[in-house]
Parts: sequence; structure tokens; C-alpha cells
Amino acid sequence: MNKDIVCVYFSRTGKTKAAMAEIADALNCELVRVRDKVDRKGALGWMRCGLDAMRKRTQPINRLVTEQPLSDYRLVILGTPIWAGRCSSVMRGLLKRRGYEMANVAYVITHGSEALYKEVYGQMDRYLLKPHVADVSLRPGSAGYHFWRDQFIKTCADFVASDGEQPPEQA
Ligand SMILES: Cc1cc2nc3c(=O)[nH]c(=O)nc-3n(C[C@H](O)[C@H](O)[C@H](O)COP(=O)(O)O)c2cc1C
Repeated sequence: MNKDIVCVYFSRTGKTKAAMAEIADALNCELVRVRDKVDRKGALGWMRCGLDAMRKRTQPINRLVTEQPLSDYRLVILGTPIWAGRCSSVMRGLLKRRGYEMANVAYVITHGSEALYKEVYGQMDRYLLKPHVADVSLRPGSAGYHFWRDQFIKTCADFVASDGEQPPEQA
């Protein structure tokens, strides 16, 4: 088990979970889910998600159970779906409350449309002490999914292997 990396994700319908499970498996690292206490199921839940994301509203998150303190990981990989062109309010809630504890962060975003949503990375960086070191924008089921996912995995592995001294190329 690679103790330098942890994958933390939120997923409402399982797509981000699947992508993050593949990434954690390839990097042989811990995989942890983050949640809040809001019921996000069904049509009402869908609407709540959209409104929360648009208003940048967050709710307290459940206790994150990781094997080490978040600050001890050399790389924290955060996975979130895109909601209304933004990161999910659950991931925003985690970043708001605990982003300052993360030494180096990489982002995995999943979405349904062709757009890449690269502007979302800058929005998420506002909660970190320094900008993220790698990112990937994935549309599950798309032709490029496996290619970009694998590029990202390599970038993360190289980053940790290089002691985090050199910023990696962005995936
Ligand atoms: C409330 C809501 C808003 C969404 N807004 C967008 C969007 O703006 N652009 C997009 O491409 N996909 C959007 N999606 C689709 C999700 O980002 C996409 O299906 C994602 O992969 C779902 O991840 P999950 O299964 O881990 O929850 C939205 C989904 C929800 C529930």
C-alpha cells in the first residue's frame, strides 16, 4: 500500500466513485468517501445539488476516516462530479473545512457533457495553501476516458516518486 497518497471522493450516482476506485487501484493507495448529511436522492435531491452548487452553499461533512492525518499524505487526490458547472458542494465543503491541511492536491472531475470545466480547478484552489499539482477532466464512457485517466495516474505516480520537488506536467 502506498502510504504517500490518498484518494478522497464524493459521488452521487457512482461515476466518480468508479473512476476514483480505478485510480486508487492503479496507485495502490487508500480510497475514502466523503459525504454530507443532505439527502441528495431522487429529483428533489438533484435540484438541491444544483442549487447548492450554484449558491456555493456547503453543509457539514461526515468525519473523514483516513489511516493517517490528511497532512501526512504527500498527495491527496480529490474526486468530484461537476454540478451546474462547479465542483459539487460536498467537495467544496471538504475543501472549505480541511483544504488547508493538504500538502499537495490533485483533482479528478467527472461530468456528463463534452466541456472540460478547467476553470473549476482555480475555484477549488482557493481553499488550498498552494495550487494543485495535477488534474484530469473525465467524461465516463467517452473515447478518451482511459487515455486521460492513465496519463493522470502516471503524473501522480511521478510526482510522488520525485519527492514532490518538481511540479508535474498537467494532465
Ligand atoms: C445537480 C447536477 C448538476 C450537474 N451539472 C452538470 C454540468 O453542469 N455539466 C456536466 O457536464 N454535467 C453535469 N452533471 C452531471 C454529472 O456531473 C455527471 O453525471 C457526473 O459524472 C456524476 O458523477 P457521480 O455519478 O459520481 O455523481 C450534473 C449532475 C447533477 C446531479
